[in-house]
Amino acid sequence: MADTDRTRTEAAPVWDAEMARSYDTPGEGMFAPEKVDPAVARLTELAEGGAALEFAVGTGRIAVPLAEGGVPVTGIELSVAMVERLRTKADEDTVPVVIGDMATTRVAGDFSLVYLVYNTVSNLLTQAEQVECFRNAARHLGPGGRFVVELGVPSLRRLPPGQDGLVFAHRDGYVGLDTFDLKHQHLVSHHISFTKGREPRVIRVKQRYIWPAELDLMAHIAGFELESRHADWQGSEFTGDSGSHVSVYRLPDAD
Ligand SMILES: C[S@@+](CC[C@H](N)C(=O)[O-])C[C@H]1O[C@@H](n2cnc3c(N)ncnc32)[C@H](O)[C@@H]1O
Repeated sequence: MADTDRTRTEAAPVWDAEMARSYDTPGEGMFAPEKVDPAVARLTELAEGGAALEFAVGTGRIAVPLAEGGVPVTGIELSVAMVERLRTKADEDTVPVVIGDMATTRVAGDFSLVYLVYNTVSNLLTQAEQVECFRNAARHLGPGGRFVVELGVPSLRRLPPGQDGLVFAHRDGYVGLDTFDLKHQHLVSHHISFTKGREPRVIRVKQRYIWPAELDLMAHIAGFELESRHADWQGSEFTGDSGSHVSVYRLPDAD
């Protein structure tokens, strides 16, 4: 197995049937209308009447409402279990999905928009794969086409010297902990759930975190220019204190 294949499969087993079930929380959490609707509205605007391709479409959190709103959407997804869950909401004609790796899989069709949301570019664990992912987005777009990336800003400012772990969320029955490997620019998010009378359940997701400037360089290598960067889907200003960003990259217009 080549090194790049190993890093891809290392990230993949997390997204099994049990994860697909617990990930998909209709109307709540990341599936709440206040999270989904602004993203769908902004992506609809950015598609400018063309078709969209979602990298790592998951269970269709964004793709399904986007398609229902009239934007033709195709997905690429590594996990069969996540797509089976999507299929409970939308059939193959409404949201076609190709099983494969978003860094390399080619989908037939003309797209005006490719998008990759909810920090998922970080699921690719090497810089080379992340650059490949930008190149793959560019391959699916014509002149003026857009690639939209939603990504967290690494929370390293919260990490005191000598400490390599941070609690990023806690509530009754749940603790979320990030541990950092600063040398390799990796972090592991540990999601620990406690249910009375059961063993604690731990889900670990490994990621390669990316600074906005490095993301811009990846985009540049693939031929994109940064069109806009906001702190959220509603268009709030991105500042030095923003915890996340929605970055819109665009290929140059035809001459
Ligand atoms: C956090 S979920 C996001 C799903 C969806 N985009 C959303 O916003 O709800 C991450 C998804 O990325 C998928 N994934 C991870 N690495 C991938 C890769 N290299 N190619 C395609 N999909 C990948 C996982 O299987 C999982 O469905």
